[in-house]
Amino acid sequence: MTQYEKAQALVEVLGERHGDEFALGGIAVSAIAEQVGTPFFAYAGDALTARLRRVKKTLGPEVELFFSLKANPSLGLCQLIAQEGLGAELASVGELRLAQRAGFSPRRAIFAGPGKSDQELREAIEWGLESINVESEGELLRVAAAAARSHKTARVSLRVNPLSQLKGAQMRMAGGHTQFGIDEEQLEGVLARVGRHPGIHVAGVHVYVGSQVADVEALLAHCRVVIELAARVAGHSGTPLETIDFGGGFAVPYFEGAPEFDLEAFARGFQVIVEEGRRRLGPFRPIIELGRYLIAECGVYVTRVLDVKHSRGRTYAVTDGGMNHHITATGNFGQVFRKPYPMLVLNRLQQPRDASITVVGPCCTPLDVLGHDTELPNVSRGDLIGVFYSGAYGYSASSLNFLSHPTPAEALVLGGELHVLREGGAADQVLAGQRALPDRSTDTRKAG
Ligand SMILES: Cc1ncc(COP(=O)(O)O)c(C=O)c1O
Repeated sequence: MTQYEKAQALVEVLGERHGDEFALGGIAVSAIAEQVGTPFFAYAGDALTARLRRVKKTLGPEVELFFSLKANPSLGLCQLIAQEGLGAELASVGELRLAQRAGFSPRRAIFAGPGKSDQELREAIEWGLESINVESEGELLRVAAAAARSHKTARVSLRVNPLSQLKGAQMRMAGGHTQFGIDEEQLEGVLARVGRHPGIHVAGVHVYVGSQVADVEALLAHCRVVIELAARVAGHSGTPLETIDFGGGFAVPYFEGAPEFDLEAFARGFQVIVEEGRRRLGPFRPIIELGRYLIAECGVYVTRVLDVKHSRGRTYAVTDGGMNHHITATGNFGQVFRKPYPMLVLNRLQQPRDASITVVGPCCTPLDVLGHDTELPNVSRGDLIGVFYSGAYGYSASSLNFLSHPTPAEALVLGGELHVLREGGAADQVLAGQRALPDRSTDTRKAG
């Protein structure tokens, strides 16, 4: 499937066509633009809930599905996801507060990621999280100290950095030396030194090794490794494990030629691994944590064409938003993303793709390109360009202050109704929180 065909197929998944125009969740994008201003992220709430239900159903009732808030920490979306019964995978106290506000249960929330401060650990323990997933022996000791200060027992999972790498992962986060997790070969020592510390309950094991994995067999092989690691942790901690978090990393087919992740095949293989694991280790709750796979497809980033220019045989559409709002779509969020996302001119859905257009944002750098030589209909000033698969790592992953343009709005269409999740910024937003120097004119006079 070409990128153009993918984008046209996504129009059907996320909404409908009103003549030549895309109507997300049934509302014409021009009407959304009129209400919230451009650029904006628009999310299709009904498509999101349908997707969450399908993923949950396919994985089966035994599997606990957690949403990684880092993919999209928009409160309204988190509320929808919490209402669908998912858990939350958190990586900061900000995400923790968001999870509380969105209605996630603490017993279905985990806190992973390196660099947790003592204050963050204390808040997590006070909230009674399902587990703090510790990334090092030092962090485990700090959890123990924070638990003692709060007169509580902290539930922890040991995040393990296995010796083996996940072969199919396009973004690897384990296998060699890394800031993530405790090296597999250090596990026994760490458990012997701090595993039985009062104030700590080793409830689980967590192994997250990479993102954008399309190869189901490689992912299943990784899950078998996780069972082996869990068996070692259970053996050395002396208590059975309650949870095993297998990570996730299911790929989104963002780019030309990328296949859909075969969720059904993964679910079939995973069920067998869990059953075998339970026969060996006793009952445990299997966790899968996903960010982009759940939410990327449901979002579209919409920018308006401000200028169409021709330069030495090339046509450029210059839009009012780019890398400052959607860093991954401009290929600036790691090697893996250096290719264009599917795009359409949202108000020219049925017009022939008779042009080759380079779509660029307004930031003064050659890095701000949404797509080189993209096949699109001939664009005009005022047209709306939509970048698909934009529901993950858009707003929150971007350097929103770069070039000091106003921040984009975020809008959700749910049941045919438009909800503004976040207002777009204003021009003087750039001054917010900044303090000017005191007036020094009198000093200057004195000096003169
Ligand atoms: C520990 C952990 N879990 C989950 C995720 C989410 O990954 P993805 O959005 O690819 O599903 C990440 C991403 O970096 C991660 O570090």
